Amino acid sequence: MWSFVSTWYFSKQAAQAGKAVLESGGDAMDAVIKGINRVESDPEVESVGKGGFLNENGELALDAAVMDGNTMKTGAVCAVRGFENPINIARAVMENTKHNILIGAGAESFARNMGIKESDMESLITDHARDVLKKAEEKGHDTIGAIALDSFGKMAVGTSTSGANMKLMGRVGDSPLIGSGFYVESGVGGAAATGLGEDIMRTCCSFRCVEFMRMGLTPKEAVEKTVILAHETIIRHGGKPDCIALICMNAKGEYAAAANHKGFTYAFADENTPPQVTEVTPIIDKDEDGPLFDGVAGYER
Ligand code: GLY
Repeated sequence: MWSFVSTWYFSKQAAQAGKAVLESGGDAMDAVIKGINRVESDPEVESVGKGGFLNENGELALDAAVMDGNTMKTGAVCAVRGFENPINIARAVMENTKHNILIGAGAESFARNMGIKESDMESLITDHARDVLKKAEEKGHDTIGAIALDSFGKMAVGTSTSGANMKLMGRVGDSPLIGSGFYVESGVGGAAATGLGEDIMRTCCSFRCVEFMRMGLTPKEAVEKTVILAHETIIRHGGKPDCIALICMNAKGEYAAAANHKGFTYAFADENTPPQVTEVTPIIDKDEDGPLFDGVAGYER
């Protein structure tokens, strides 16, 4: 049995690549990396890898992370420039250093030493990205997150993103931060987030979602409760939640997704399901006024 789930419609190509690895008995981490590499290298995807949104200085500075659910080891990189596939550097951090996160120039120098393919920075920037920056458009934070379960029961998760258009130089989102943008433990489950990093990291969404599955909740219950709780907590403390969306999968390969906004999509594939994309009905809508929640069971105010 194997299973693969990933964020956003553009990750259907990731599910196709992940399926190719998993159906031939391959490793969950290889499936996550191969899947995410496809999206990173697609210049049409405006929020990940080549063609991603630019920071305020007109630079493409990428964040990415991986986590191995068997060893609980993780590797992440932040604000990396000149590399199309930052998730490959994240994996190298996990496999070849004693550390969890490398940032900026340190991550770039490490990647060079590891022989990871470097690109001319300008070649990674598309006209579309320059245009979006010039118009100072408010653009989303559409991270690719992918979770895989392989036929040996191993689970893995990965994330990759350019972060938001016009972010401050040095800004780091949730995607490379363990427990916020991603989390996985084989035998329990995994989760990955997309949306406004600042909101996702202050509510530790991915760790929370996996812990809900550990407590016995189904993936659907866990992911919906996580989004409601994050959304409601921000409101309760005087904030206004932005986009928060998650995917998750349990150790049986059952998956679910939830969002507090319209338009969230995800891709999925398993032994019985060819790669396909589904749109999520928001569990609550950040853009609509409505009654606040009464709280989430087990998390009283
Ligand atoms: N969720 C991606 C980011 O905020 O950077």
